[in-house]
Amino acid sequence: MATGLLRRSLSRVPSSPASKLALIRAHASEPEAQQVDAKARGTSTVKTFQIYRWNPDSPSKPELKNYEINLKECGPMVLDALIKIKNEIDPTLTFRRSCREGICGSCAMNIDGCNGLACLTKIPSSSASTITPLPHMFVIKDLVVDMTNFYNQYKSIEPWLKRKNPPTVPGKEILQSKKDRSKLDGMYECILCACCSTSCPSYWWNPESYLGPAALLHANRWISDSRDEYTQERLEAINDEFKLYRCHTILNCARACPKGLNPGKQIQHIKSLQPKA
Ligand code: SF4
Ligand code: SF4
Ligand code: FES
Repeated sequence: MATGLLRRSLSRVPSSPASKLALIRAHASEPEAQQVDAKARGTSTVKTFQIYRWNPDSPSKPELKNYEINLKECGPMVLDALIKIKNEIDPTLTFRRSCREGICGSCAMNIDGCNGLACLTKIPSSSASTITPLPHMFVIKDLVVDMTNFYNQYKSIEPWLKRKNPPTVPGKEILQSKKDRSKLDGMYECILCACCSTSCPSYWWNPESYLGPAALLHANRWISDSRDEYTQERLEAINDEFKLYRCHTILNCARACPKGLNPGKQIQHIKSLQPKA
């Protein structure tokens, strides 16, 4: 009805394209008005997201599927766009997310060729973006990858405090000086998102035998902890041609880390503590 009225109004107004746009804007809802504004400015707010789709229950091969979104009706982050697509266009789109603020690490994916967290990555200003799962991982469905190997590698470095002696005062916490505590900076912040490991060429080629930057960063976190009494055993456990020495200091890991950490530097520290050959 409203559209019919608008069409009749337009037919009665013998005016320029600009005044026609002004009339449409006057009758439009807010999102439609924003599109009209964008058209008047000669800029489009519609962006295409090419998203990797694969369903294990379907016989078809993986594909990149296009979704168009009006950015004026969407939050600023890639995760906002994915949620909008799932809620309004295609409920079958599958991805992980939880905290939406860079804490849980679950929304890690590859955005326009770079690993990152969808919730911390602004929607790129280009007219199209490609979103795929973390590279060189087994895909469970769409953007969800199998993290089993990654978590097992984390578990293998025994990421907990190990003591040979009880605390000096029984039942009390084991104290640490401010200086010793600061040695954990650059490591304790890791959220285990796997952006680093899945951007590391050495990890791509040896995902089961090389521990990868995330697990090694955590190994160094416990090696460096003044309260831990298993430093030597921890160093020996990873003093291995594959577990540790597949790192060739390419530093893709540091570039990929959404928390600004440098796993390559921590791996260098572990190597420096190992006995010289
Ligand atoms: S520095 Fe080591 S861990 Fe980091 S990307 Fe390079 S090879 Fe991988
Ligand atoms: S070091 Fe950075 S990229 Fe790697 S798992 Fe931790 S937070 Fe993610
Ligand atoms: S949703 Fe938790 S880190 Fe992105």
